[in-house]
Amino acid sequence: MRGIRLCGSGAAVPATRLSNDALSQRVETSDEWIRSRTGIGERRVAAEGETLTSLAAAAGAQALQNAGWEPSSLDLILLATSSPDDLFGSAPKVQAVLGAERAVAFDLTAACSGFLFALVTAAQYLRSGAMQRVLVIGADQLSSWVDWSDRRTCVLFGDGAGAVAVEATGDADALLGFRMASDGRRGENLTLSQQPQRQELLPGISAQQGGFSTIAMNGQEVYKFAAREVPAILQQLLDDTSTSPSELDWLLLHQANQRILDAVGERLGMAAEKVLSNLAHYGNTSAATIPLMLHEAVSDGRISSGDLIATSGFGAGLSWGAALLRWDGPTS
Ligand code: UT7
Repeated sequence: MRGIRLCGSGAAVPATRLSNDALSQRVETSDEWIRSRTGIGERRVAAEGETLTSLAAAAGAQALQNAGWEPSSLDLILLATSSPDDLFGSAPKVQAVLGAERAVAFDLTAACSGFLFALVTAAQYLRSGAMQRVLVIGADQLSSWVDWSDRRTCVLFGDGAGAVAVEATGDADALLGFRMASDGRRGENLTLSQQPQRQELLPGISAQQGGFSTIAMNGQEVYKFAAREVPAILQQLLDDTSTSPSELDWLLLHQANQRILDAVGERLGMAAEKVLSNLAHYGNTSAATIPLMLHEAVSDGRISSGDLIATSGFGAGLSWGAALLRWDGPTS
């Protein structure tokens, strides 16, 4: 049997911190409101010169270093992002920065489910024998796409990147199970869509003028969706793999809202200290939250080799998914 091994993690965030208090100078909000409703205390915002590509490449380079891999050994770089520097894709630029000249590189877009979907996609190339080494990166720079005058959304999001080096192996499998789902009928609850703007080319012929609006979200509907679907898909995954919640070392959820993390943890009967959270420091970094949190907990020694992790991503699409992972990489 061919399986996968998670060999190393990395992360990168911009240096600039934007605290709730600072943000409340711009929109009518308060540290108390944001913390009590979301658990967020501050977020990072990319400065001039910091790009989605530079964050993704920095996270990727660290994952390669922690795995002990040369960039030239990579077969594939999968970049999960909804905020590329270039709509044609940012992954090839990441490949160039890393010097991973042998690797094919492409973007995968699934919003906050992106990293989980990319990890599962990588596993298919590895299990089939088509590839040996893949770098999976989740990165987003939503500071470019939030409406900074809309207090209902701008307080939630931040910029960041995380990465995991994944290898094919014959003797074990770190991906013990997965489930993925989409429901486009509910997609209008969270969008970053094209502005409806036409340009006339010739009499009778017009074309769409490219350009996007800002993030629009029905927060309550997205909250209800997450509170219902995330525990359900996690329970299905546990049933698929005959795993009891008591066997899990960690619950690693997409970091959207502390209330969602608490509710899902409670539904599964997990102790609060097993539900990983770094929302206070980074907010919702979309495709980056899961690998960013994973890297932090690996680096500070909370996650150690052999630990069993249930993870779930969810968000725009609407899309959601869950995976049961065994961490095998180096620990601090
Ligand atoms: O990656 C997935 C992406 N998104 C999510 O997971 C988000 C899911 N949804 C949520 O996390 C929550 O719905 C929010 C945090 C976005 C909002 O929390 P809520 O408890 O659902 O608040 P609400 O939308 O019901 O708003 C309650 C009140 C409203 O005032 P009124 O109408 O009751 O007077 C809002 O105008 O809070 C007001 N409000 C704010 N007040 C201060 C909304 N945003 C803010 C704000 N500061 N930033």
